[in-house]
Amino acid sequence: MLMEDRVLNLESIGELAPSPALYGVLGHPVAHSLSPGFQTAGFAALDRDAQYVKIDAAPENLPAVVAKMKELGFAGWNVTVPLKNHMHALCDELDEQATLFGAVNTVLHSDGQLLGFNTDGIGWDEAIREDFHVDVGDLRILILGAGGGAGRALSKYAALQHCERLVLVNRTPGKAEELAAELRPVFASDKLEGPHDRCTARPLEPEIIEEELATCDLLVNATSVGLKPTDPPLLPSGVLAPHLLVYDTIYRPARTRLLRDAEARGARVANGLSMLLHQGAAAFSIWTGQEAPLAAMRERLMADARAA
Ligand code: ATR
Repeated sequence: MLMEDRVLNLESIGELAPSPALYGVLGHPVAHSLSPGFQTAGFAALDRDAQYVKIDAAPENLPAVVAKMKELGFAGWNVTVPLKNHMHALCDELDEQATLFGAVNTVLHSDGQLLGFNTDGIGWDEAIREDFHVDVGDLRILILGAGGGAGRALSKYAALQHCERLVLVNRTPGKAEELAAELRPVFASDKLEGPHDRCTARPLEPEIIEEELATCDLLVNATSVGLKPTDPPLLPSGVLAPHLLVYDTIYRPARTRLLRDAEARGARVANGLSMLLHQGAAAFSIWTGQEAPLAAMRERLMADARAA
């Protein structure tokens, strides 16, 4: 079995030989992660002799696993669900985005210090630019699942980009309302007020979403709905209009019900693979100080996603 396919844990991580170029992804579960393949392809493209492994850590084991990783000389790692908040608490220093999101998806281990970063926002920004040829800051955006971990991060990122409009929608409405109250001050200044509040929370009700989408450009699904083939549709297809750009943060399946419905209605769609690629490329640059070899990383990610 290739090292990049093996899942290590608190018991087995000690079997790794110490090395100056160890990297990995921490998650729970983590077996499904596509990061090892495309990060390994990145290192190979730059002729760097590095090893990238998957590490499963339950939240309560994270401090012990991280201590072991420091001891083994891991140079850096990615962090995925559900450990991003837990990792945040274990870092010695945080970058602006990790501080803002309260979550860390990338760690750099340098001189015994753990530096925490969050590349999810810039990864998403790059993905939107690549998939739709537009900038997040120029868009009117509706985020479904704004109260969840991913949705909160994207909402905060969009607000900091001073996007034209931000509509926050969540099944549990209180979470979206709370976030809108937190983000509204960011919009208080620089652009002309339109007929709508620049930042608003709305309930997850089809008629309301349809009305809001009439004055939005980008619809983002940041809920977990669509991961399972048996999931009921998040929205009736009738609310999806042809003028929309629709981005689903889910990439497995490649076409969720939402994306299929949106495409059938004439909208432009993209899935979360581009965000996975770009958050990973940004992490790669943090670790190596080099520009990520995007073409090689993308090629491997696409191949692995097709094969998954
Ligand atoms: P997280 O740990 O990121 O909060 P989660 O529990 O999977 O992860 O939820 C992610 C998002 O998907 C949340 O916004 C959640 O809505 P709630 O805040 O109301 O829980 C949303 N979500 C999950 N299942 C949903 C469903 N069946 N319909 C609508 N939204 C749903």
